Amino acid sequence: MPVNLSNTKPLAWDAASLDADTKAMLDNLQPNILQAHVRESLSLLLLNFGDGADGRRFLKALVPLMKSARKHLDEVRAFNKTKAPGTPYVGVGISRLGYLKLGHETAKFGDNAFKSGLKRRKDTLSDPPVSAWEPQYQGEIHAVVLIGDATPEPVAATRKRVLALLPKTAKVLGEETGAGLRDDQGRGIEHFGYVDGRSQPLFLADQVAQEPGTNWNPFFPLSHVLVADPLAPHPSRHFGSYLVLRKLEQNVRAFREAEDSLADALGLTGADRPRAGAMLVGRFRNGTPLRLHDRPSSAGFPVQNDFSYRDDPGSRCPVGAHIRKANPRDSRDEGLERVLGVMMARRGQTYGSRTDRPWDDAPPQTRPTGGVGLLFMAFNSSLQSQFEFTQQSWADNPDFPAGGTGHDPVIGQGKRDVKVRFPKQWGSSALGAPQHQVPQTVTMKGGEYFFMPSLAYLKSL
Ligand code: HEM
Repeated sequence: MPVNLSNTKPLAWDAASLDADTKAMLDNLQPNILQAHVRESLSLLLLNFGDGADGRRFLKALVPLMKSARKHLDEVRAFNKTKAPGTPYVGVGISRLGYLKLGHETAKFGDNAFKSGLKRRKDTLSDPPVSAWEPQYQGEIHAVVLIGDATPEPVAATRKRVLALLPKTAKVLGEETGAGLRDDQGRGIEHFGYVDGRSQPLFLADQVAQEPGTNWNPFFPLSHVLVADPLAPHPSRHFGSYLVLRKLEQNVRAFREAEDSLADALGLTGADRPRAGAMLVGRFRNGTPLRLHDRPSSAGFPVQNDFSYRDDPGSRCPVGAHIRKANPRDSRDEGLERVLGVMMARRGQTYGSRTDRPWDDAPPQTRPTGGVGLLFMAFNSSLQSQFEFTQQSWADNPDFPAGGTGHDPVIGQGKRDVKVRFPKQWGSSALGAPQHQVPQTVTMKGGEYFFMPSLAYLKSL
């Protein structure tokens, strides 16, 4: 039976009744797509192949260091039962130019954004000119190798093994080092200090079963992340996913100043002050959704994700908040992101080190202005209708979902000339005076589009 990517039920990946094609799919799919792989410590290598044949041999030689999605899921299950540690994650993505270098045609790939490459999409995405990107992103990136694990040691050892396989004709254009950032309660956060990575599309039955799902159904069909691998021996059983990688630098000091200015403009004092930042992000630093609470709750971990925006025209969570712009949830009956198929699987990691405590209230001048940020990564079945649509039509569009909303305060790019209004009080329809949008505090420093091929393809090289 062909793999049904549109199945309306979550995938019971361990069911005895699983059909042969779906089993083959799981045995040949790279991990980290259907379910996040631990990558608390992450090394990301950007490669250029001087010689196509050498590039092919290298990619094939990587396969023994990799594992399948199924092996990863088995490891997760074992870890949950006995705390047995899993093996490191090695993931490989190939860019359009990479496939050409390896001697392939790219006509069979369905995604036009992938077939253009990120550099040629910079106007669509209002990105800085390529000359302003970091040098490692300016040249021809052919492949990315991701090496991740819970601690640095296995990553370092695996990185060594990967580099030992690299032919002399290949170059490492650059390397990024990701390191998970956690608050004092152990929750994963990003550099502005907010809990991140909580709201995700879930594809697997065991994951969906752990979520309440009363107000927000986290289940999404496989068609959101999987596409047939057009160059694999059996594209009907061998699947891959498009990966977007963007290095997003965060000016933490400027963001903290913007939070303070907004709190002042709205007259928020004392325990109400953190609501200013929550109005920009859509959650408080500890992950509490502003849709549900006017102050950070102590509801514990994992933070709440079972909410919709039904009955909230923006008086609780402003329609311009980052999480509401990037996922409007149920703006229409079935939910806009479901109708349009926009939800992607975010798998980013923070980069850069700092000595302050990102989650606390220390003054803005003690915060970094650069050198830290997010290695934004997400898996898509269509870069155009998922990542690019989110960035261009929602985040960068001051009229989404309605005129006067403004840019996404976290990731919006472009001239922020629209004035915006925020609710004076939580839950009140009375709006404060129009005011300038917060400045842009996230800067794109480079990136690329990749396809994460099936293991069957890599073995066939
Ligand atoms: C959620 C921060 C970049 C799309 C979140 C959350 C935070 C956050 C704190 C809340 C945690 C959660 O609900 O999982 C940031 C920062 C970024 C960044 C600091 C850049 C430095 C992006 C980009 C996109 C994006 C580039 C897409 C174009 C989303 C989506 C959600 C989210 C879809 C989930 C919203 C939901 O389902 O409720 N982000 N983000 N983010 N972000 Fe970002």
